[in-house]
Amino acid sequence: MIMQSTCLVGYYKGKCPNNCTDVEAIVRSSVTSQFGLDPTIIPQLIRLQFHDCFVRGCDASILLDGNSTEKTATPNLTVRGFNVIDRIKFAVEDQCPGVVSCADIIIMAAREAVFLGGGQFYNVTTGRRDGLISLESDALALLPHANISISDSIATFASRGIDVPDMVTLIGGHTVGFARCSSFKDRLYNFNNTGQADPTMDTLLVTVLKQTCPQNSATNNIVNLDQNTASANTVDNSYYQQIKINRGILRIDQEIDLDFQTSPTVRLLAYSNVIFNAQFAAAMFKLGAVNVLTEPLGEIRTSCRSINHPPPPSR
Ligand code: HEM
Repeated sequence: MIMQSTCLVGYYKGKCPNNCTDVEAIVRSSVTSQFGLDPTIIPQLIRLQFHDCFVRGCDASILLDGNSTEKTATPNLTVRGFNVIDRIKFAVEDQCPGVVSCADIIIMAAREAVFLGGGQFYNVTTGRRDGLISLESDALALLPHANISISDSIATFASRGIDVPDMVTLIGGHTVGFARCSSFKDRLYNFNNTGQADPTMDTLLVTVLKQTCPQNSATNNIVNLDQNTASANTVDNSYYQQIKINRGILRIDQEIDLDFQTSPTVRLLAYSNVIFNAQFAAAMFKLGAVNVLTEPLGEIRTSCRSINHPPPPSR
């Protein structure tokens, strides 16, 4: 079921001990200072929102530590940014204890990441509550795996109320960050069990990637998802321009340019950075509204890594 957010822009105004505390400004300041030390927090925070919102909704369930929680599921083993969120939470708790949810912190932090990365600033709604449940099995079942087909991807986004143009726009998150060889190696050596490289990948790119990802090497090197080196850590439309010249890294990256349902959006976004930035901001906003928990559901966690009130053990 898709529950639209009943959250409000500026929900935290006047809710902290000091009436004037600006929670969004605290998040901004923390993200900005962490960005100064490590610019790769941009892809970390954008991906974190996606992986949180896709499993049980945007409820910070991805942040919970423990055995067999979402964090332990294969697609989440490469998710980064948990420490970044801890530091933001610490700064927020210092001035506004027990009030701001970790779920909202993920959304506010991703917004700052998009902006710091060169994308468009957008308003976010707040008032989400933190979930009490985090299961590895949910994450395994609900997150798209590296080799997902275009039709499965469309279906999985549709089940969260996200249509095809918004899906294509959100996958544009791959304008920043990297992938490990293990996430696309089959495209270089044994695409669809053919023993050959994926014929839809630019042959020069295949050659270069084979050097970074040797067939029988256990080393799992990384490559930029946006193959335009000048903007690999910038939120812009160059990712779409790259896939239009067959330089997509993951199978889904290339397939969105090849399928008739998705290629018109790729063409539009490759054409205009202004349109991409506006659409990406709008799509992140929509992603942030997937299955949100609002009062009286959920809680406001004190630590983003554990729930406040564990349920009594079942007999
Ligand atoms: C069908 C959809 C998607 C699939 C199959 C997919 C898959 C992947 C894979 C396999 C990686 C590389 C993991 C690794 O090897 O370390 C990755 C990275 C990334 N993904 Fe996606 N993704 C999808 C959609 C999205 C969406 C919707 C967003 C954001 C809104 C997103 C944002 C990112 C970012 C920013 C990274 C780089 C992370 C980093 O550098 O730490 N992805 N994705």
